[in-house]
Amino acid sequence: MLRLTDRAHEICRRFLQPGDIAIDATVGNGHDTLFLAETVGPEGRVYGFDVQAAALEQARQKLGPEYSSRVTLFHNSHVEMNQLIDSEHRGHIKVVMFNLGYLPGGNKEITTHTESTLRAIEAACELLHPAGLISVTAYPGHEAGQHETGAVADFFRDCEADGWCLEIIEAVAESETAPRLFLLSGQGGS
Ligand SMILES: C[S@@+](CC[C@H](N)C(=O)[O-])C[C@H]1O[C@@H](n2cnc3c(N)ncnc32)[C@H](O)[C@@H]1O
Repeated sequence: MLRLTDRAHEICRRFLQPGDIAIDATVGNGHDTLFLAETVGPEGRVYGFDVQAAALEQARQKLGPEYSSRVTLFHNSHVEMNQLIDSEHRGHIKVVMFNLGYLPGGNKEITTHTESTLRAIEAACELLHPAGLISVTAYPGHEAGQHETGAVADFFRDCEADGWCLEIIEAVAESETAPRLFLLSGQGGS
């Protein structure tokens, strides 16, 4: 099966240059945060959000001192990204990554929720650079995830109608339950 997380990295990398600013909206164990920190380099900046302190601790360990200096991790919901990110960075964020659902191997009760996910994606749209990218990996394989994935798809289709560019990649073609990757790029193009 196509690994959507690898595809997400591959595509995000095309939008990032050394020195850029990026957000990991769902830090979890920190794989995506580390990828973003490596890609933006020592002059870049990464902001990360997660509601689980234990996940953030794991991520800190994964990052180590080399990368932590360019990463700011918030123990807050991604809904708050607009308030917590330096106002001077608004409109300059090149990539925002979301990997929805729960942490593999962690507490399945602590998961993303449709309403807050949509609010966070709206905030990401406001923070994004005109040539930036929002990447959302979603998991419709369980009931709550199916609702969330459908709501994200509807939200992004509205964005597309407003002039944003939308691409959807499915891990398995025409399967309603397979994970999918939504890629929304800014109206300034890449
Ligand atoms: C699929 S995991 C993320 C995996 C992660 N990107 C990685 O590379 O390991 C989803 C994460 O979203 C977090 N989460 C759930 N609700 C959240 C919220 N409102 N704001 C930020 N993070 C949230 C969970 O705690 C969990 O760690």
